[in-house]
Amino acid sequence: MEKYVGILTAGGDSPGLNAAIRGVGKAAHRAGYNVIGFRDGFRGFMENRTMRLNEQALSGILTTGGTILGTSRDKPHKMPVGGQTMDMTDAMVDVYNNHHLDALICLGGGGTAKNAYRLHQKGLNVITLPKTIDNDVAMTDMTFGFDTALGIATEAIDRLHSTAHSHHRIIVVEIMGHNAGWLALGSGIAGGADVILIPELPYDIEKVAKAIRRRSRHGSRFSIVAVSEGAMSIAEAKKYYKARTKREKARTRKEKDKAKKKLAELEHQRSDSTFRISRRLEELTGLESRVTILGYLQRGGTPSSADRLLASRLGTACIELIEQDIYGVMVAARGDSVEPVPLNQVVGKRKTVPIDHPWIDCARRVGTSFGD
Ligand code: F6P
Repeated sequence: MEKYVGILTAGGDSPGLNAAIRGVGKAAHRAGYNVIGFRDGFRGFMENRTMRLNEQALSGILTTGGTILGTSRDKPHKMPVGGQTMDMTDAMVDVYNNHHLDALICLGGGGTAKNAYRLHQKGLNVITLPKTIDNDVAMTDMTFGFDTALGIATEAIDRLHSTAHSHHRIIVVEIMGHNAGWLALGSGIAGGADVILIPELPYDIEKVAKAIRRRSRHGSRFSIVAVSEGAMSIAEAKKYYKARTKREKARTRKEKDKAKKKLAELEHQRSDSTFRISRRLEELTGLESRVTILGYLQRGGTPSSADRLLASRLGTACIELIEQDIYGVMVAARGDSVEPVPLNQVVGKRKTVPIDHPWIDCARRVGTSFGD
């Protein structure tokens, strides 16, 4: 009897995805499975757009960025189809059954885990792998993609130092991470940023300016400010958490939709906040300030060796789980080992930086300001 494993990549692309696809695929072949790739995330799965992942297709992809399968942010239960948003979960169950899949491996972040869990609740044998540059997936030590993005952001901060120093300027560098500060914090420490602003520690711009003025008084007339894209001032954070509490407490669909709309509005307002921070710092310090947005550079290109290694470890571990009939789990990194974690312990949670995290303490001890 032929055995089949399906695999898809969903959400934002992340360095290490191809290494994970290769890990799943090669280990699956050795265990006697055929591997079917589905293109462009849950959309391609629903539309049954496939790619046969034989040995040849898996060869040479370990070191490449992006995902050979393509990706999308489409959700099974809210799929835009012919101008309407539809629940296409049942169509996906049919695709799964028509291919006689023994399991479906979904590579993605928190959103993908949620969507995969929905399919698992419909009876599919689902396993997920945690990938995202944001490192915000709960219940795993780390996600693949994070290490590469950390390296890129750190190198950017290194490079910004010499130009900031030469021109006696402030450089405000915006770093990805969605609502989690891991990337800005990690690269800020590794690159020696003078100020780090992360969503978990709302900032007071006056305090940021004070830290920069103090540096000037001590002879350093330049400063690097690493800003996480989700960073919030104290006033913004108050509004944000109020709206979030309303969403959590909403009892009716109408109340929930209203709270969601408010949250989206607040996030939208934050979209140019890095520029506002820069302008305000110029006013408050009298120094010239420039902005650098790292954006998608952080997601593209060759994965680091740490990400290739992590993705390979997690990918190959999937097959062991399939052989033991363990489904409805995410393969989590735990120290040198890996561990299956039930998806219901992962979904709906986001791993943000705890405010007593040792990295924060470390940054404070070298004199970094968080503007708090
Ligand atoms: O989740 C990864 C991430 O790069 C976030 O850091 C960022 O907020 C988001 O994706 C950008 O998403 P998109 O690719 O949809 O613009």
